[in-house]
Amino acid sequence: MRRHRAMVVFALLAASAQGLPASAGAAEEIAAPASARQRELFKLLKHDCGSCHGMRLTGGLGPALTPDALKDKVEANLTATILSGRPNTAMPPWQAFISEPEAAWLVSRMRKGVADAR
Ligand code: HEC
Repeated sequence: MRRHRAMVVFALLAASAQGLPASAGAAEEIAAPASARQRELFKLLKHDCGSCHGMRLTGGLGPALTPDALKDKVEANLTATILSGRPNTAMPPWQAFISEPEAAWLVSRMRKGVADAR
């Protein structure tokens, strides 16, 4: 199953994230993860999120996550969708693998456009 494979990949990423310092409390600004973790998150966005949302996030089984598609959406809702998934849809919850600040950071990056991020 595609989802199962994604989960295995995420389990590995989650394990590698455990060495990072805990993120400081609720910051007004979105704190960027450490650069090594940023690279992991981009890789994950491309390969795992991309398996449903398209390699360039232009849509597939899941909707497009491009700056244009996201411009009128509330960031907090998008962050909550990443963390909790959407019940009764193919969108799975990622909170076991992505922290809340990381999800918020991903949303802010997707709103700027990350299709070419490496
Ligand atoms: C197994 C397929 C699948 C995977 C993998 C997946 N998504 Fe989704 N995602 C969906 C579907 C389907 C929806 C639309 C749900 C709905 O109908 O409301 C969605 C919705 C979303 C939304 C809300 C978009 C909107 O316009 O409201 C965001 C944000 C999102 N996904 C981000 C991600 C991120 C980030 C990842 C990787 C960490 C990811 N998704 C992985 C299938 C997937």
